Amino acid sequence: MVATQTPSQKSTSKAGLRTAAVQQMAGLQRLLFELERAFIASATTAVPRVGEPELKYLICQHVWESASHGRFLRERGREMTGFGKSDTIRPEIWRAFHEATLASDPDALVAGFYRVIKPYILDSYRHYLEATHHLADWPSRRLVEEFIGDEERAQTEIEPWLKTSPEIEAWCSHLTLTVGTLGRPDGQAVTPLPTDFVWLQSEQPYSHPDTCNRAPYPVCSSVFSEDPKETPIVRAWLEDPNTDARIIRVLIYVWLMMELDAVDYLSTVFIDTLEAPFDLHHDLARHLWDESRHSQFGFRQLPKHGVDLMTLEHSLDLYNILVQMPPAERYAMMTMEFEAGSFPTKALIMDRVRELNDFEADTLLAFDRNDEQNHVRYGHQWLPEIMKLCGHTEPVEEFVKATQANFAKMAEIHGGKTPHQLSPEQRLTGEKIAAMFA
Ligand SMILES: [Fe+2]
Ligand SMILES: [Fe+2]
Repeated sequence: MVATQTPSQKSTSKAGLRTAAVQQMAGLQRLLFELERAFIASATTAVPRVGEPELKYLICQHVWESASHGRFLRERGREMTGFGKSDTIRPEIWRAFHEATLASDPDALVAGFYRVIKPYILDSYRHYLEATHHLADWPSRRLVEEFIGDEERAQTEIEPWLKTSPEIEAWCSHLTLTVGTLGRPDGQAVTPLPTDFVWLQSEQPYSHPDTCNRAPYPVCSSVFSEDPKETPIVRAWLEDPNTDARIIRVLIYVWLMMELDAVDYLSTVFIDTLEAPFDLHHDLARHLWDESRHSQFGFRQLPKHGVDLMTLEHSLDLYNILVQMPPAERYAMMTMEFEAGSFPTKALIMDRVRELNDFEADTLLAFDRNDEQNHVRYGHQWLPEIMKLCGHTEPVEEFVKATQANFAKMAEIHGGKTPHQLSPEQRLTGEKIAAMFA
């Protein structure tokens, strides 16, 4: 089916008329681009609020796929007259997606995004395919066909996580009304809101939770200490040449799995930087997905090495502290301090793990290192931009120094507040890991 022109899209100039069909499809691509951008900025708020690591991983993967779709759409869109030069999401799209962040519980939150928001995006892609000319717009068609495949797979992947209850159904109905304000994907009329409709955001806009959800897993403040009876990771053991390499391998998997804290706090930066250039959110989405993969390295390997994941407490300190700091400081601590500072210890660990001739462990650590190098590069590229967006005008170096000082202060106030959920007998500790290889 070939696109038809609506009165608002008519151009009066002859030049405009000559490319009217292109402009109409470029307009639809622009809409798709903004929908993907809005999904990235809103769905990331679900990550700290859902508990199951597997569900966090899946949302991060879908956010990364949306970022990839967005980049290809913009690249193709810019080949077409009428796509526009800015990266901005129009306010009515953001209003509908912002509303989806305001669900009262994690199950409704996930249902809203995957039963209402994602299907709207999928329908919009399907409409594009029907509306465009298969030969004239073949380059777009190839992309959109692929994205439809991704969206259909995402629906299948999320299905086991979708729950039903009267409250969830009511929430999805509320969101269906909000999405109705955008009009149907096929360009049909906007559905008017009922007269008694209340936008939740008009009463209370989105704000981050003070702590992140890890249910059903036990939690604590930190998995790092110097005491083998206290935590699984004993700092001194990581660099001690006398530590058994098999112990080091378990410790690094615990460390990697706990990069789930990076997943939770990096997720908070998107909605706090809504005006960011798309490329920044694209790289943040990649960074987020990388951290979710690193966490999976540990999550999937530890049970193979005899660790019962229900005995491994999850550390909440970094999220709890960083969420109290402004977004530019969160991102600065992550890239300029934690990531940039992790290379020497991780290099020693990699050398020790190689003694085990464990090809899979070596591979996971090599990819982790490669990803982390990219993350530090992202930090150098994007921290100045995030600083600018958040109104910080001082030189980057000065800002990073002040941030480190602020982190120390905030750690005193907000750190160490999560007691061990499990007793020393129940929880995994360094002592118990050592005993596994005695
Ligand atoms: Fe990582
Ligand atoms: Fe990283």
